[in-house]
Amino acid sequence: MMPLVFDILTLFPEMFQGPFSVSQIKRARERGLLEINLVNIRDYSPFKHREVDDAPFGGGGGMILRPEPIYLALEAIRERRGGKLGPVILLCPQGEKFSQRLAWELAREEHLVLICGHYEGVDERVRHLATGEISIGDFVLTGGELAAMVVVDAVARLLPGVLGDERAPAADSFAGGLLEHPHYTRPRVFRGEEVPEVLTSGHHARIARWRREESILRTLVRRPDLLSLAELTEEDRKFLRELKQRIEVLGV
Ligand code: ADE
Repeated sequence: MMPLVFDILTLFPEMFQGPFSVSQIKRARERGLLEINLVNIRDYSPFKHREVDDAPFGGGGGMILRPEPIYLALEAIRERRGGKLGPVILLCPQGEKFSQRLAWELAREEHLVLICGHYEGVDERVRHLATGEISIGDFVLTGGELAAMVVVDAVARLLPGVLGDERAPAADSFAGGLLEHPHYTRPRVFRGEEVPEVLTSGHHARIARWRREESILRTLVRRPDLLSLAELTEEDRKFLRELKQRIEVLGV
Protein backbone atom coordinates (compact mmCIF):
# COMPACT_ATOMS: atom_id res chain seq x y z
CA MET A 1 0.00 0.00 0.00
CA MET A 2 1.46 3.37 -1.05
CA PRO A 3 1.29 6.06 1.62
CA LEU A 4 -0.77 9.19 1.08
CA VAL A 5 1.80 11.97 0.69
CA PHE A 6 1.10 15.50 1.89
CA ASP A 7 3.43 18.34 0.89
CA ILE A 8 2.53 21.32 3.06
CA LEU A 9 3.77 24.78 2.05
CA THR A 10 3.98 27.04 5.08
CA LEU A 11 5.91 29.93 6.58
CA PHE A 12 5.75 28.25 9.99
CA PRO A 13 6.69 24.56 9.74
CA GLU A 14 7.34 24.45 13.50
CA MET A 15 3.60 24.89 14.13
CA PHE A 16 2.98 21.35 12.87
CA GLN A 17 5.35 19.53 15.19
CA GLY A 18 2.88 18.94 18.01
CA PRO A 19 -0.23 17.66 16.22
CA PHE A 20 1.68 15.47 13.78
CA SER A 21 3.91 13.86 16.41
CA VAL A 22 1.29 12.29 18.66
CA SER A 23 -1.37 9.61 18.69
CA GLN A 24 -2.81 8.15 15.50
CA ILE A 25 -1.12 10.56 13.09
CA LYS A 26 2.26 9.72 14.59
CA ARG A 27 1.52 5.99 14.34
CA ALA A 28 0.26 6.31 10.76
CA ARG A 29 3.49 8.06 9.78
CA GLU A 30 5.64 5.49 11.54
CA ARG A 31 3.77 2.67 9.82
CA GLY A 32 4.25 4.24 6.39
CA LEU A 33 0.53 4.87 5.77
CA LEU A 34 1.00 8.62 5.69
CA GLU A 35 3.89 10.87 4.70
CA ILE A 36 3.94 14.51 5.71
CA ASN A 37 6.55 16.77 4.19
CA LEU A 38 6.75 20.34 5.48
CA VAL A 39 8.07 22.85 2.96
CA ASN A 40 9.17 26.24 4.22
CA ILE A 41 8.00 28.79 1.64
CA ARG A 42 10.81 31.13 2.70
CA ASP A 43 13.40 28.59 1.52
CA TYR A 44 12.16 29.20 -2.03
CA SER A 45 12.24 32.98 -1.96
CA PRO A 46 14.40 34.18 -4.89
CA PHE A 47 14.96 37.52 -3.15
CA LYS A 48 18.08 38.75 -1.43
CA HIS A 49 16.61 38.95 2.04
CA ARG A 50 14.37 35.90 1.58
CA GLU A 51 11.24 38.08 1.56
CA VAL A 52 7.95 36.31 0.96
CA ASP A 53 5.48 39.18 1.20
CA ASP A 54 4.97 42.77 0.15
CA ALA A 55 2.55 45.68 0.49
CA PRO A 56 -0.58 45.57 -1.69
CA PHE A 57 -0.69 47.48 -4.96
CA GLY A 58 -3.31 50.18 -4.62
CA GLY A 59 -2.49 50.79 -0.98
CA GLY A 60 -4.25 49.71 2.17
CA GLY A 61 -2.93 47.90 5.20
CA GLY A 62 -1.39 44.50 5.65
CA MET A 63 1.08 42.43 3.74
CA ILE A 64 0.35 40.06 0.88
CA LEU A 65 2.13 36.78 0.08
CA ARG A 66 4.02 37.12 -3.19
CA PRO A 67 3.55 34.46 -5.87
CA GLU A 68 7.20 33.69 -6.77
CA PRO A 69 8.30 31.72 -3.66
CA ILE A 70 5.16 29.62 -3.80
CA TYR A 71 5.56 28.97 -7.51
CA LEU A 72 9.19 27.92 -7.04
CA ALA A 73 8.33 25.69 -4.08
CA LEU A 74 5.62 23.97 -6.16
CA GLU A 75 8.05 23.40 -9.03
CA ALA A 76 10.61 21.90 -6.64
CA ILE A 77 7.95 19.56 -5.24
CA ARG A 78 6.85 18.59 -8.75
CA GLU A 79 10.41 17.64 -9.59
CA ARG A 80 10.83 15.68 -6.35
CA ARG A 81 7.60 13.78 -7.06
CA GLY A 82 8.64 12.59 -10.50
CA GLY A 83 7.18 15.46 -12.54
CA LYS A 84 3.62 15.11 -11.22
CA LEU A 85 1.58 16.95 -8.62
CA GLY A 86 -1.64 15.85 -6.97
CA PRO A 87 -4.36 18.39 -6.23
CA VAL A 88 -2.90 21.69 -4.96
CA ILE A 89 -5.19 23.14 -2.31
CA LEU A 90 -5.02 26.64 -0.90
CA LEU A 91 -6.37 26.95 2.64
CA CYS A 92 -8.29 30.21 2.90
CA PRO A 93 -11.63 31.50 4.17
CA GLN A 94 -12.94 31.88 0.61
CA GLY A 95 -12.61 28.17 -0.22
CA GLU A 96 -15.16 25.37 -0.40
CA LYS A 97 -16.37 24.53 3.07
CA PHE A 98 -14.60 21.43 4.40
CA SER A 99 -16.81 18.44 5.13
CA GLN A 100 -16.65 14.72 5.79
CA ARG A 101 -17.59 14.16 2.15
CA LEU A 102 -14.60 16.22 1.01
CA ALA A 103 -12.34 14.35 3.47
CA TRP A 104 -13.36 11.04 1.85
CA GLU A 105 -12.65 12.47 -1.60
CA LEU A 106 -9.15 13.61 -0.58
CA ALA A 107 -8.43 10.27 1.10
CA ARG A 108 -8.61 8.65 -2.36
CA GLU A 109 -5.64 10.68 -3.65
CA GLU A 110 -1.98 9.57 -3.59
CA HIS A 111 -0.50 13.05 -3.27
CA LEU A 112 -1.91 16.30 -1.92
CA VAL A 113 -0.26 19.71 -1.75
CA LEU A 114 -1.58 22.16 0.83
CA ILE A 115 -0.69 25.86 0.68
CA CYS A 116 -1.12 27.77 3.93
CA GLY A 117 -1.93 31.41 3.27
CA HIS A 118 -0.75 33.99 5.78
CA TYR A 119 -0.58 37.69 6.53
CA GLU A 120 -3.51 39.69 5.16
CA GLY A 121 -3.86 37.45 2.17
CA VAL A 122 -2.22 36.00 -0.89
CA ASP A 123 -1.58 37.58 -4.27
CA GLU A 124 -4.46 36.60 -6.54
CA ARG A 125 -1.99 34.76 -8.82
CA VAL A 126 -1.18 32.34 -5.96
CA ARG A 127 -4.82 31.28 -6.16
CA HIS A 128 -4.28 30.39 -9.80
CA LEU A 129 -1.42 28.04 -8.89
CA ALA A 130 -3.90 26.01 -6.83
CA THR A 131 -6.41 23.56 -8.27
CA GLY A 132 -8.81 24.06 -5.36
CA GLU A 133 -9.43 26.05 -2.19
CA ILE A 134 -10.73 24.86 1.17
CA SER A 135 -12.10 26.78 4.16
CA ILE A 136 -12.64 24.97 7.45
CA GLY A 137 -15.47 27.29 8.46
CA ASP A 138 -16.85 30.78 8.38
CA PHE A 139 -14.28 32.37 10.63
CA VAL A 140 -10.86 33.87 9.98
CA LEU A 141 -7.67 32.32 11.34
CA THR A 142 -4.28 34.03 11.44
CA GLY A 143 -3.10 31.64 8.74
CA GLY A 144 -3.89 28.44 6.91
CA GLU A 145 -1.71 26.25 9.17
CA LEU A 146 -4.39 25.23 11.66
CA ALA A 147 -6.77 24.62 8.78
CA ALA A 148 -4.20 22.40 7.06
CA MET A 149 -3.80 20.40 10.27
CA VAL A 150 -7.56 19.91 10.43
CA VAL A 151 -7.63 18.66 6.84
CA VAL A 152 -4.68 16.29 7.32
CA ASP A 153 -6.18 14.89 10.53
CA ALA A 154 -9.64 14.32 9.05
CA VAL A 155 -8.23 12.70 5.88
CA ALA A 156 -5.54 10.60 7.60
CA ARG A 157 -7.98 8.84 9.90
CA LEU A 158 -9.90 7.59 6.84
CA LEU A 159 -6.87 5.83 5.34
CA PRO A 160 -7.07 2.04 5.58
CA GLY A 161 -5.30 0.79 8.71
CA VAL A 162 -4.92 4.14 10.47
CA LEU A 163 -7.62 3.64 13.08
CA GLY A 164 -7.38 -0.13 13.34
CA ASP A 165 -10.31 -2.48 12.81
CA GLU A 166 -12.04 -1.81 16.08
CA ARG A 167 -12.98 1.74 15.17
CA ALA A 168 -13.98 1.85 11.53
CA PRO A 169 -14.68 5.36 10.26
CA ALA A 170 -17.85 4.12 8.55
CA ALA A 171 -19.62 4.38 11.94
CA ASP A 172 -18.63 8.03 12.49
CA SER A 173 -20.90 10.95 12.93
CA PHE A 174 -21.81 12.08 9.40
CA ALA A 175 -20.81 8.74 7.82
CA GLY A 176 -24.43 7.83 7.16
CA GLY A 177 -25.46 11.44 7.51
CA LEU A 178 -26.40 11.15 11.23
CA LEU A 179 -24.69 12.29 14.41
CA GLU A 180 -23.32 9.54 16.65
CA HIS A 181 -25.35 8.01 19.47
CA PRO A 182 -24.24 8.60 23.10
CA HIS A 183 -21.46 6.39 24.48
CA TYR A 184 -20.99 5.10 28.02
CA THR A 185 -18.22 3.28 29.84
CA ARG A 186 -17.61 2.47 33.50
CA PRO A 187 -18.77 3.29 36.12
CA ARG A 188 -22.39 2.16 35.81
CA VAL A 189 -23.47 5.02 38.07
CA PHE A 190 -21.66 8.37 38.08
CA ARG A 191 -22.90 11.05 40.46
CA GLY A 192 -26.34 9.48 40.46
CA GLU A 193 -26.52 9.19 36.67
CA GLU A 194 -27.01 5.65 35.43
CA VAL A 195 -25.94 3.99 32.20
CA PRO A 196 -29.08 3.25 30.11
CA GLU A 197 -30.30 -0.24 31.05
CA VAL A 198 -30.35 -1.49 27.45
CA LEU A 199 -26.56 -1.13 27.12
CA THR A 200 -25.93 -3.58 29.95
CA SER A 201 -28.64 -6.02 28.79
CA GLY A 202 -26.33 -8.04 26.51
CA HIS A 203 -29.13 -7.99 23.92
CA HIS A 204 -27.26 -7.00 20.76
CA ALA A 205 -30.24 -6.34 18.51
CA ARG A 206 -31.90 -4.11 21.12
CA ILE A 207 -28.62 -2.25 21.67
CA ALA A 208 -28.19 -1.66 17.93
CA ARG A 209 -31.77 -0.37 17.64
CA TRP A 210 -31.35 1.90 20.68
CA ARG A 211 -28.16 3.37 19.25
CA ARG A 212 -29.77 3.97 15.89
CA GLU A 213 -32.76 5.73 17.45
CA GLU A 214 -30.55 7.86 19.69
CA SER A 215 -28.59 8.88 16.57
CA ILE A 216 -31.77 9.92 14.83
CA LEU A 217 -33.07 11.76 17.91
CA ARG A 218 -29.78 13.57 18.44
CA THR A 219 -29.61 14.59 14.77
CA LEU A 220 -33.21 15.84 14.83
CA VAL A 221 -32.55 17.97 17.92
CA ARG A 222 -29.08 19.27 17.07
CA ARG A 223 -28.68 19.18 13.31
CA PRO A 224 -32.07 18.75 11.59
CA ASP A 225 -30.43 20.09 8.41
CA LEU A 226 -28.55 16.78 8.10
CA LEU A 227 -31.66 14.58 8.09
CA SER A 228 -32.75 15.24 4.53
CA LEU A 229 -29.50 13.69 3.21
CA ALA A 230 -29.19 10.89 5.81
CA GLU A 231 -29.35 7.27 4.77
CA LEU A 232 -32.48 6.06 6.57
CA THR A 233 -34.20 2.68 6.42
CA GLU A 234 -38.00 2.32 6.39
CA GLU A 235 -37.82 1.51 10.12
CA ASP A 236 -35.76 4.66 10.74
CA ARG A 237 -38.27 6.79 8.83
CA LYS A 238 -41.15 5.39 10.85
CA PHE A 239 -39.28 6.19 14.07
CA LEU A 240 -38.55 9.72 12.82
CA ARG A 241 -42.22 10.31 11.93
CA GLU A 242 -43.28 9.17 15.39
CA LEU A 243 -40.65 11.38 17.02
CA LYS A 244 -41.85 14.41 15.11
CA GLN A 245 -45.48 13.63 16.04
CA ARG A 246 -44.57 13.33 19.72
CA ILE A 247 -42.71 16.65 19.55
CA GLU A 248 -45.74 18.29 17.92
CA VAL A 249 -48.06 16.93 20.62
CA LEU A 250 -45.76 18.22 23.34
CA GLY A 251 -45.62 21.60 21.57
CA VAL A 252 -41.85 21.92 22.03
N1 ADE B 1 -7.09 30.78 6.74
C1 ADE B 1 -7.65 31.74 7.51
N2 ADE B 1 -8.88 31.40 7.87
C2 ADE B 1 -9.14 30.18 7.32
C3 ADE B 1 -10.26 29.29 7.33
N3 ADE B 1 -11.38 29.56 7.98
N4 ADE B 1 -10.15 28.15 6.65
C4 ADE B 1 -9.03 27.85 5.98
N5 ADE B 1 -7.95 28.64 5.93
C5 ADE B 1 -8.00 29.80 6.59
